[in-house]
Amino acid sequence: MQAQAEQLVTRHPSLVTGAKHLYLHIPFCLQICPYCSFYKDIAGPGKADPLVEAIIREAELFGANCVPETIFIGGGTPTALSVSQLDRLFQGLHRHLDLTRAGEFTIEMNPATVTARKAELLHSHGVNRVSMGVQSWDPHLLEVLGRVHDAEQVRRSFSILRAAGYDNLNLDLIYGVPGQTLAQWEDSLHRTIALQPDHISAYCLTYEEDTEYFERLQRGEFRENTDQDAVFFERGVELLSAAGYAQYEISNYAKPGRTCRHNLAYWEGADYLGLGPSAWSTVGERRWQNIPDTAAYVRALQAGVRPLAEEEILPAETREAEKIAFGLRMNAGLDPLQLAGQRDLVASLREEGLLEDHGPRVRLTDRGRLLADEIAAQLI
Ligand SMILES: C[S@@+](CC[C@H](N)C(=O)[O-])C[C@H]1O[C@@H](n2cnc3c(N)ncnc32)[C@H](O)[C@@H]1O
Ligand code: SF4
Repeated sequence: MQAQAEQLVTRHPSLVTGAKHLYLHIPFCLQICPYCSFYKDIAGPGKADPLVEAIIREAELFGANCVPETIFIGGGTPTALSVSQLDRLFQGLHRHLDLTRAGEFTIEMNPATVTARKAELLHSHGVNRVSMGVQSWDPHLLEVLGRVHDAEQVRRSFSILRAAGYDNLNLDLIYGVPGQTLAQWEDSLHRTIALQPDHISAYCLTYEEDTEYFERLQRGEFRENTDQDAVFFERGVELLSAAGYAQYEISNYAKPGRTCRHNLAYWEGADYLGLGPSAWSTVGERRWQNIPDTAAYVRALQAGVRPLAEEEILPAETREAEKIAFGLRMNAGLDPLQLAGQRDLVASLREEGLLEDHGPRVRLTDRGRLLADEIAAQLI
């Protein structure tokens, strides 16, 4: 088996380069949320066992060179897997990959999937950070968002995780939900802060193509309100920073020492390897995506071939442009040299109060952050 793995890796030299950041995608969810465009599938009988085996096989055949410093297991909802499936998955990963250098090891959970046994098992396998999707504390908005859990479940799951020893917990929130009032948003922020997670992600709802929400937007049932989104965003920055959560990226806030190292590496343009259906990888000048179809992904691995959907060679300028776009979203900002080719535009953005110096670096002002995507599009 080892010889076969070596042969396959040798045939795919792009996989030999050791990425220091590993992503693993588990697509299953208990229920599909109407706004979500991640590759996902309803957890059902007979689907999860073959996927677990296929991911272990992918790690064995194509991941052996990766000694990750950060790991992020996302989805979907990885904890939609049963305790025994999770145990098998982690035993298999530990068998084929060296996970001992992962200082940060995150897994995503939906509050409805958290149990003490799962929390303890994952902790025993080295997971030291959990990111849980809360979205809102308002019962009506949870229904609008098609969430499978209620507010009480969030509280219960949070205490289970703390009791299991997790000292690095993130909670995800969404603002700009149809019908959401500023008071409801403030209430969600206050209740989230009251739990004292170590990290909070506050995302503005995006209407992603191929989602039910997008269709409802097209039909005129929902309407985007960017002015209101800006008010919600600013209130988020205010309340979270007053509560000791420093904004370090447009949607991300952390207590001291609790920024997400995996996401930071990604935004700073580091190489990463992705395993599992639909997962993207970027290594050197190559970027590829695994097949975004669980059954086809499983078939490919059963046949011992790379579960590849597409692969491209990235021009150096594309990676540079991506670093600028991500850098603009970060409060630490950019090295001015990265914008050296855009002197006139940078000067006019400064004059408009959208860009500012931040020590030796340059970054968006609070007002500029509201227009981050438009400014990035102009600069790259
Ligand atoms: C993979 S999910 C997190 C774990 C789990 N599946 C859950 O939903 O509880 C990743 C996060 O992306 C955010 N998200 C997903 N779709 C979004 C959208 N259309 N707009 C804004 N945020 C979105 C949500 O906050 C969600 O918690
Ligand atoms: S938001 Fe989370 S639970 Fe909902 S469909 Fe997306 S991945 Fe699944």
